[in-house]
Amino acid sequence: MLTPAFIEELHCPYCGSGLALERVIGPRSGQIEHGIVRCGCYRYPIIDGILILRQQSGPADTHDARVEHLMAGNVGQARHRAMHVDAPLASGPGWWHRMLSRAAAHGLPMAGALARRQSARPQNLEAHADVPFAELLETLRPGLYAQYLYHRYANNSFLASVAPLLLLGDLAPGQRVLELTCGIGHSAFLMQALFPHLPLVATDHDFVNLSIARRHFIPNAQLLCLDAEAPLPFAEHSFGGVFCLDGFHYLRSKVALVRELNRITEAEALWLFPHLHNARAENFNPGIPLEPDQYRHCFADVPHRIFAESSLLSDFFVDGALRLDRPSPASDLAQAQNLTLIGTRRHDFWRERADLAPRLASRSQRLLVNPIYSIQADEAVTRLTLSWPSPRLQDECREVERYLPKTCELDTALLQRLRAGDLLDSDLATVHELVRKFVLVNLPLPTYTRP
Ligand SMILES: C[S@@+](CC[C@H](N)C(=O)[O-])C[C@H]1O[C@@H](n2cnc3c(N)ncnc32)[C@H](O)[C@@H]1O
Repeated sequence: MLTPAFIEELHCPYCGSGLALERVIGPRSGQIEHGIVRCGCYRYPIIDGILILRQQSGPADTHDARVEHLMAGNVGQARHRAMHVDAPLASGPGWWHRMLSRAAAHGLPMAGALARRQSARPQNLEAHADVPFAELLETLRPGLYAQYLYHRYANNSFLASVAPLLLLGDLAPGQRVLELTCGIGHSAFLMQALFPHLPLVATDHDFVNLSIARRHFIPNAQLLCLDAEAPLPFAEHSFGGVFCLDGFHYLRSKVALVRELNRITEAEALWLFPHLHNARAENFNPGIPLEPDQYRHCFADVPHRIFAESSLLSDFFVDGALRLDRPSPASDLAQAQNLTLIGTRRHDFWRERADLAPRLASRSQRLLVNPIYSIQADEAVTRLTLSWPSPRLQDECREVERYLPKTCELDTALLQRLRAGDLLDSDLATVHELVRKFVLVNLPLPTYTRP
C-alpha cells in the first residue's frame, strides 16, 4: 500500500534528492494506485501501486515512456510498457531465461522448448484480472518456472529460509523490514501473516514479479521496483531487519549493497540472507556466487555467522531448532551447496533457538495444505499424497523428499477449523507439528484455492 508519507521519506537512488509526489491518477485516498514522482534528475512512474525507481530513458535524456503515458492519463499503456519492455525477463535474457537457455544448451529435455516459449509468450497481466493464480503463472512465467513458483513450499531453498525468517519475530512492533529480491512475494506473505506489526517494504527489480506479488500475496506492503545494485532510496537507520532469499548471488555489486545496508539499518538490525549459492559447488543457475570466506569479506562490517543450508533445514525438520550457536565448520561450508548468512550486532543472539517453530502457527492463522500434496477427503479423514507436477521439479527438490512425508492422514474436521481460522486449543500441538514439517503452510487462501 503505497502512501504519500512513505514516498516523502524516500530519495532518488541516483541523484540523492528527495522524492515528491507530482501527480496522482485516480481517486486521492490514503494509498496511491497510479501517479508520478519527481526528484532532482528524473520523474518516476507509479503503476498499480508499485513505485518504479528504475530509469529507462536513453543515456543522454530523461524521457520515460511510462511517465509519458501516465501524463496522458493512459495507465494501460504505461503498464504495458513496464511489463513488456522494462521488466528484466521481458526485456531480454533474465535469470530464468538464462537458466533455460543454459539447460537447453546442455540438452536438458523440455528446456529448449520452454526457453522459446518464454520469449514468445505475451506478458499481459492486465488482460488476466480474473485468471486463477496457477493460470496466471503459466502465462507470465511459463513451464517449469510456473511450477517452481507455484510450489515454492516444496523447494529446499524456501523451506530452509523459514527458520531464519522467524527471527524477525524478535523485532519490536513498528520496526521496519526490508525485503530485497522478493520475487512474487512468498516470504513477504509469510512475514505479513506472522508479524503484521512489522511494516514491510518489498523490493525487486522485476515489475512483473512485483505485480504478481501485489495481486496475489502482499496487497498491503509498500512495493518498490528498484535495482539492488544501485544506491538504496531509504533514509539512515530506517530498518530493523533485512531479508534477502536466493538473491544476493545474482547481484554483482555486493560490497556496495552491504555498505548501503549498513547505512539504512538500525544498529542492532537483523540481517538474514538465506540461500546463498556457494561458488565452490556446482549450481544450475549460479548467478555470480562467492565462496564462504568471500561472503564473509563482503559482510565484514557486521558480526555474522554462516551456516550450511542443509544443516539448517534438517535441524528445523527434526526438532524445530535453529542452532545459531553452532555455525557450520569451514570444512562443511566448503562442501555445502548453499549457505545461509545471518548477521547482527545484538548481544546474546548466538544461541540455540527452540522457540521459533511455534511462531509459524497460532489459533487464528489460516493455514493450508501444502499444494505439493494431492488431497482425498472423506467426512472423517483427509489423505495427503506428495504429488510432483513434473519429474524435473521433483529432481530439483529432491532434498526435501527426505523430510516431507510421502503420505499423511489428517482429521477432516481439523482442516475445516484451520480454513475457518478457528482452531481449538487442543488442535495446536498437532498443528505445530504439521507446520514444522511443512505439511501445513502459510499461503493466501484465495490465491491457492483448490478446485
Ligand atoms: C531466484 S529469485 C528469488 C525470489 C524470491 N526471493 C524467492 O526466493 O522466491 C531472484 C530474484 O532476484 C531478483 N533480482 C535479480 N537481480 C536483481 C537486482 N539487481 N535488483 C533487484 N532484484 C533483483 C529477480 O528479479 C528475482 O525476483
